Amino acid sequence: MQIQRTTSIETNSARQKSSNREIWKKFRIEIETQKAKSNVTGFYPKRSWLLFAFLLKIFGACLAVTGLYWLGNWKAKNIKVKKMDIEIADLPEEFENYEIIHLSDLHFDRVIGIEERIVELVGDRNPDLIVLTGDYKDDLSMNPERYEGTFEYLGKFLKAKDGMFATLGNHDTHDLVPVIEKSGIHTLQNESLEIKRGKSKITLTGLDDVHYYFSDRVFPAMESAPKNDCKILLVHSPEIVPEAAKNGYSLYLCGHTHSGQVGWPNDKAIVTHVNTGEEYAVGRWHHGKMQGYTSSGTGVSGLTVRFFTDSEIAVIRLKRPVA
Ligand SMILES: [Fe+2]
Repeated sequence: MQIQRTTSIETNSARQKSSNREIWKKFRIEIETQKAKSNVTGFYPKRSWLLFAFLLKIFGACLAVTGLYWLGNWKAKNIKVKKMDIEIADLPEEFENYEIIHLSDLHFDRVIGIEERIVELVGDRNPDLIVLTGDYKDDLSMNPERYEGTFEYLGKFLKAKDGMFATLGNHDTHDLVPVIEKSGIHTLQNESLEIKRGKSKITLTGLDDVHYYFSDRVFPAMESAPKNDCKILLVHSPEIVPEAAKNGYSLYLCGHTHSGQVGWPNDKAIVTHVNTGEEYAVGRWHHGKMQGYTSSGTGVSGLTVRFFTDSEIAVIRLKRPVA
């Protein structure tokens, strides 16, 4: 296995890489501190969550009174392992059966000990790759050092042949990056790398969150990614699906929506918190030739409950189409 890292403006030099990270960090801090958020449609005012939080409290109280809270709480903590095969049209032969474990929306503050449960469920699978598509915090104001032990645990006990790669979500602040990387998990901020098997290579690109922290560096990052037959994109939310397809990505892995966390019995989410791309909010989908998967999240946010959706770890096996 050989991993080669590139970004939209850098070559392989460490100096340029650190300069790219500095530019990313400067922009990230600017958005984190201002009164507006940024997505692909432009800037929009920070939403007040007071009403939503109040309604959640009422909903939580109703669940407690009816006894349903305990059922929803058990369901939120009962993480399911979802296995699936995804056919990629131009997958190189050497990558047949390439196994990716996809974790998303861990929100460590909500389900205490979730990292131990994840390690238990992943067991000794030793996949080819483990990817994490953001939302490690639940409360944005939490000190990043609070998560050091949790990441350290995941970094120590989860193993993948080509390593572990994480992107940030809209709940995550820039200062979480050194905490994640200290654990041995790499982060990708509008960066790409190549993974090699024999004579073939695939591209892995990771973008910063595009729900709150979209920047115009996202598109050049996709455009300049190494042009291999199979390109995989990691991004927190499904809000740039058409743009990713235009850039020739084969597989788009994301989360963010939690499948609504409280859904309808027909697997549809009630609330998805996406500004665009509602049709890509739950489970498997495709856009043209590009395949996609929106995780329902390994953890939960807001209330520690789920109804008609599962907390999940996705185990994805890449396959070449049957002739
Ligand atoms: Fe989330």
